[in-house]
Amino acid sequence: MSKKSGFKIIGTGRYLPGRPYTNHDLARVMDTDDEWIVRRTGIRQRHFCPEGVGVSDLALPAAKQALEDAGRAPTDVDYILFNTMTPDHVFPGSGPLLGEKLGCVGVPALDLRTQCAAMMFSMQVADSLLISGAAKTILIVGAEAHAGFMPWSDWDILEGTSDKKPEPEDWDRATRHRGLAILFGDGAGAMVVESGENGGGVLGMDVHTDGCHVDKLLIPAGFRTRPFISKRTVEEDLWIPTMQGRDVFKYAVTELPKSIRRACERAGVGVGDVDWFVAHQANQRINDVVRERLDVAPEKVPSNIARYGNTSAATIPILLDEMRRDGRLQEGQLVCFLALGAGIHWGSAVVRL
Ligand code: UT7
Repeated sequence: MSKKSGFKIIGTGRYLPGRPYTNHDLARVMDTDDEWIVRRTGIRQRHFCPEGVGVSDLALPAAKQALEDAGRAPTDVDYILFNTMTPDHVFPGSGPLLGEKLGCVGVPALDLRTQCAAMMFSMQVADSLLISGAAKTILIVGAEAHAGFMPWSDWDILEGTSDKKPEPEDWDRATRHRGLAILFGDGAGAMVVESGENGGGVLGMDVHTDGCHVDKLLIPAGFRTRPFISKRTVEEDLWIPTMQGRDVFKYAVTELPKSIRRACERAGVGVGDVDWFVAHQANQRINDVVRERLDVAPEKVPSNIARYGNTSAATIPILLDEMRRDGRLQEGQLVCFLALGAGIHWGSAVVRL
């Protein structure tokens, strides 16, 4: 990996829609409970995107906040990288929608589809665009609206605005998908990056894709069937992700420590030199095991999963923004980003702030 990195984070922002939904709220529509969810995942609440709102809408306030933090105007942006697995439309991607909403007409807007590992790939693309001179000011956004694939229709019961009980078949269906449904939450995060100086930027990077495990986490519906949305895909819930959670868990705790070691080696630093490990928040237990395997102190691995759940591509920029705004992140610190998600895509990046 090149040492003449172009990547410097000059602004961040985040947006979480509406009010949080607790584990107790979820327990009104399926057979689950707060104790199980907290013990197995660390999650206590999450936000859901309102109906009729898309990820480009969630991304807009996060992007504006990041630009303001960076002291840049939308007209300064000359590249947009939009990361999501829940786009506003099947096509085109959400990058063009955000560009239009921001007033960045004519600015290239590239959608990346690497799910929860999105930020690793976006950082590498951004770094390369800056080094090559193809871009000077890049807006990187991660935004998700998972609410659309939640396995219940009784939103009024979930929200507590109705005293009704779910029909037994609705309860059973949501319960069949409970391992997935308790994990995900919605939101958006954004960062503005430009070429850095003084030896900053991406010092070492390690990204991978292993398509042998596509079946471990995917939405089965797609353009393999005609028409791609049919009565059958709806009746068989093929638009709801299927997840072999235990396998993904094992893959993450096996591969992420190796990836971090490789990224540190490429950066010419020791794992112990890293100030912060800004990790994707899929399950608190995954991050605890990765941390233990690397022998890293708990206070170096910040967590916000209790409040937001797994926000997929939005997770890392949301956490980054929280840390930047509350003063934890300081110029000159060494940060290791790490993430793994459906694909399976995973990786890590060692960045000097
Ligand atoms: O970011 C994208 C990548 N995704 C991930 O990284 C996800 C990784 N995997 C995980 O986080 C975990 O595997 C899950 C949180 C999804 C599941 O936790 P687990 O400890 O692997 O549980 P399990 O699926 O093996 O299920 C254990 C038991 C089962 O009951 P039995 O068969 O032992 O009686 C499940 O039916 O827990 C039951 N269960 C639940 N109970 C209450 C599963 N989900 C729930 C639930 N509430 N929500």
